[in-house]
Amino acid sequence: MIVVLLGPPGSGKGTQAKRLWTERKWPQLSTGDMLRSAIQKGTKLGIQAKSFMDQGLLVPDNVVVDLIAERIELPDCRPGFVLDGFPRNILQAGVLDRMLEVRNQPVDRAVVFEISDEELVRRLSGRRTCVECGAMYHVESAAPKKPQLCDHCGHSLIQREDDKPEVIQKRLIVYHQQTEPLVEFYKKQNKLRCLDAKKKASDVTEALSEALQ
Ligand code: AP5
Repeated sequence: MIVVLLGPPGSGKGTQAKRLWTERKWPQLSTGDMLRSAIQKGTKLGIQAKSFMDQGLLVPDNVVVDLIAERIELPDCRPGFVLDGFPRNILQAGVLDRMLEVRNQPVDRAVVFEISDEELVRRLSGRRTCVECGAMYHVESAAPKKPQLCDHCGHSLIQREDDKPEVIQKRLIVYHQQTEPLVEFYKKQNKLRCLDAKKKASDVTEALSEALQ
């Protein structure tokens, strides 16, 4: 099954994509994670992407399209995968459809995570991520057992550069202007399902499971 998780920054796409991997072994293809990994390794691509990400802007389409095109060719993606953070605009969605047409394996479902901007700001400003394993926490709603340390691997937790207040505002504007039109795009293809992302994570998991039936 090929699933697109759509929704604003902080709506819980990454949290749910990780659960789909744990429960169903569906690979999570997160362009944000791929770009952050390139930044950490100091690659040319990472250096190029960082300036856009730090400002809350989208990275150029050709960069993310190449990342996805390469990733979906790996054997673990053959049965299907979950796209988390891609496509991000109409151009990327069109390119994705054409890439998948060649494989004769179209997008099956696009699920949009619906939530207010106020709740997103609360979630993003409290998010902490493990430097080592990428596990995610929230200082209030999903706090680690020991402050600033990952429950799974014991490494430090950090705040993402783009989770600073002024960058969060920019990311929300970019989402509404460039990504939200994809809701209509997938609605027209009769592939869209909506879920209430304000609910607690386990309820969202349940709603997502229903949306994928
Ligand atoms: P990316 O990494 O994709 O960030 P995003 O879409 O902005 O999404 P987030 O990771 O911020 O949020 P999320 O929805 O995954 O929420 P999460 O589960 O973490 O992109 C970053 C940047 O990379 C972009 O700005 C852009 O520059 C670039 N980029 C990436 N893809 C691109 C593309 N295709 N084209 C161009 N540029 C691209 O949850 C957030 C917090 O809430 C966590 O603390 C979590 O614990 C908590 N939480 C989750 N669910 C719940 C719940 N139900 N209740 C309470 N708390 C919850």
